[in-house]
Amino acid sequence: MTSQELHDEGERVAARIERRWLTLSIAIVVALAAMAAFAGIHQATMPQARVETADPSRLHLAGEFIESNLGSALEPDGSVTVRAIGQQYSFTPACLLVPTGTLVTLRATSADVVHGLIVEGTNINTMLVPGYVSVLTARFEKPGDHLMPCQEFCGVGHEGMWGKVKVIDRADFLARAAERRRLACVD
Ligand code: CUA
Repeated sequence: MTSQELHDEGERVAARIERRWLTLSIAIVVALAAMAAFAGIHQATMPQARVETADPSRLHLAGEFIESNLGSALEPDGSVTVRAIGQQYSFTPACLLVPTGTLVTLRATSADVVHGLIVEGTNINTMLVPGYVSVLTARFEKPGDHLMPCQEFCGVGHEGMWGKVKVIDRADFLARAAERRRLACVD
């Protein structure tokens, strides 16, 4: 084989490998786009397995989100359920009280427009959509305060819509829970 032939052979091999990589990279892009489209369309067309609803115009009249039922409740299994409402432009309760080392289930909804709820330093980050109940769980290991701003633009007062989560020692929380059915920071 002359050096010219060797050179031509090398070029052919290089071109073939390049075409293969080109095909593979296009296939990867197409596969990822297909996965994203499937996930999006599937989620949009299939109802969620468990959707809980709450009529925003009747929250204050009856049901789970009446004012006397808001705040933190100790459950028989030792976990804590926190119920809260977002409305223009505050959260009720404005400060959620939770114990350390405990499974905390947050149940929240909106009384008017879409709000957001994010708890600094945790993976709690959800929208509060009128008509629907947002449910999230969290565990707080250390006592302290976490900021809880509204993270969804909800009107002129959005910037001022802030809440707080106050984490206190579990023993302290249990002592307070023995005296009151529902707890919030100001008790
Ligand atoms: Cu409520 Cu932004």
